[in-house]
Amino acid sequence: MQPRLAFAMHFVVGPVELLPPGTQRRVDVDGRAIAIFNVDGAFYALRDICPHQGGPLSSGHLVHAVTAPRPGCYAIDPETTLVRCPWHGWEYELATGQSWVGATRVRTFPVSVETLSEREDHPDTSVQRVRGPYIAETLPITVEGDYVVIDV
Ligand code: FES
Repeated sequence: MQPRLAFAMHFVVGPVELLPPGTQRRVDVDGRAIAIFNVDGAFYALRDICPHQGGPLSSGHLVHAVTAPRPGCYAIDPETTLVRCPWHGWEYELATGQSWVGATRVRTFPVSVETLSEREDHPDTSVQRVRGPYIAETLPITVEGDYVVIDV
């Protein structure tokens, strides 16, 4: 029996200057829709099909990850960019495709009244992001010379 060989197709998306920082677009490669994002010069490629119910990720808004180190305080992580699906709002990390539970999830927290000194005795009140159940498919994307190239 012959082993099956799989080949990646090298696809030129277009010149880099047609995809400046801040742009995102859908391209069709061999019948597959792919969403391409240029975030401050870093390129990302995801299948343009949301793993939830198929929404077009290429039409989603880009957001940064937000954490809440303590109640009443939040921090934006500029190193982590996510795309928010336009259909139901699931967010996917561009670099990994991992979904994260956003602010729409209902969570309950214990509530108490404490003095400031009591507060300092219990510093661990941070709210952490929770890994979601969906993972969007990512594709390798590079810049070769003056062109943006993906492997599918
Ligand atoms: S289809 Fe994308 S969040 Fe539902």
